[in-house]
Amino acid sequence: MNCKILFLVILFLTLGLALSIPQNYESIFNFGDSLSDTGNLLLSGALAFPVIGQLPYGKTFFQHATGRCSDGRLIIDFIAEAFSLPYVPPYLAVKQGQSAQHGVNFAFAGATALDAEFFFERNISILWTNNSLNVQLNWFRDLKSDLCSDKESCDDFFKKSLFMVGEIGGNDYNYAFFLGGGSKQLRSMVPLVVGAITDATSALIEEGAAELMVPGNFPIGCSAVYLTLFESPNKEDYDRHGCLKAFNAFAKYHNSQIKKALDMLRQKYPHVRIMYADYYGAAMRFVHTPLHHGFYGGTLKACCGGGGPYNFNNSARCGHAGSEACQDPSIYSNWDGIHLTEAAYRYIALALINGSSSQPPLLSRPL
Ligand SMILES: *[C@@H]1O[C@H](CO)[C@@H](O)[C@H](O)[C@H]1NC(C)=O
Ligand SMILES: *[C@@H]1O[C@H](CO)[C@@H](O)[C@H](O)[C@H]1NC(C)=O
Ligand SMILES: *[C@@H]1O[C@H](CO)[C@@H](O)[C@H](O)[C@H]1NC(C)=O
Ligand SMILES: *[C@@H]1O[C@H](CO)[C@@H](O)[C@H](O)[C@H]1NC(C)=O
Repeated sequence: MNCKILFLVILFLTLGLALSIPQNYESIFNFGDSLSDTGNLLLSGALAFPVIGQLPYGKTFFQHATGRCSDGRLIIDFIAEAFSLPYVPPYLAVKQGQSAQHGVNFAFAGATALDAEFFFERNISILWTNNSLNVQLNWFRDLKSDLCSDKESCDDFFKKSLFMVGEIGGNDYNYAFFLGGGSKQLRSMVPLVVGAITDATSALIEEGAAELMVPGNFPIGCSAVYLTLFESPNKEDYDRHGCLKAFNAFAKYHNSQIKKALDMLRQKYPHVRIMYADYYGAAMRFVHTPLHHGFYGGTLKACCGGGGPYNFNNSARCGHAGSEACQDPSIYSNWDGIHLTEAAYRYIALALINGSSSQPPLLSRPL
């Protein structure tokens, strides 16, 4: 082979490599709730939610329950795969000796953005867990000395890490709505929840995080649990896709406030990259055109549940007696009435990676 051809071959190989692996995150640190818990609640004993430790949870991909609130992989798992990283180990597994070299997942199913005291003071005493965002942040701080030894080595480690702050906050509203709070009343919670999320984001930046992704809330008005608990005889309460308008408007309001707060953080920390993940917009795309996305079972009805128009029955929730999982979860977006299927999470993760639902896109990090 002559030199010119060899040069071209090397050039093409290099370009090809750069295009297929444009990223170099070496680890992922995640904070959140059941949308991204990869096993913490289960490792803690899962007293509040024991069915998470049994099939049909996990039936599609892992073929056994892993503590993920889905039939398979979550958004965080698909992001890890995209960067050729191992699945992010739950914090409680790291405490038992699993390696934290490629990151740690602090997310805890049921977790809130606000601390448990906030809810106790308001007589909201149904929390699944007290492991709020602040508690998770303190776990991160406690673990830090095991990850890196001084400021320089920590900065170097965290610069190559992706920090996911959420989704978190959805439960703060769930707990309040399920106990009968109205949208108007709950709007007063939004600045507090958004403040907790942006405070945690700032705290991580102060700890050395340079690449952060902060997701918004899902269109809760399209979820089987809300559609069932807040079923209305009034047609005007629904949009043309069958979702409850008031709850979606509430989620949008939360998201608009998060986006504003992130803009302010970007001004304060111009050297870090803060990505907003538009879970709402990504999910709405398959709610608008379910068939186009392969969701032949529909997007409002849960795959796994105990009957009713949305296959969500509070007396027979997925995993409990009287419930049943659908044959093929890949044709549903909603898994158990509250959480999404692996198929839906895959779609959303790809939309974050290619930038159609994240600003800026996850995959455009300069090398
Ligand atoms: C909470 O409940 C207790 C006992 O039922 C009651 O005395 C108290 O006033 C309630 N507090 C609020 C803030 O509603
Ligand atoms: C949360 O904390 C309260 C007050 O300390 C306690 O009574 C409750 O059992 C805790 N809940 C959980 C799920 O750990
Ligand atoms: C909900 O579950 C209970 C308990 O299994 C059952 O008796 C009831 O018929 C179910 N409701 C619907 C609407 O399927
Ligand atoms: C990005 O990914 C989403 C979800 O898989 C897909 O619908 C969309 O077409 C993709 N966009 C581009 C520009 O590749």
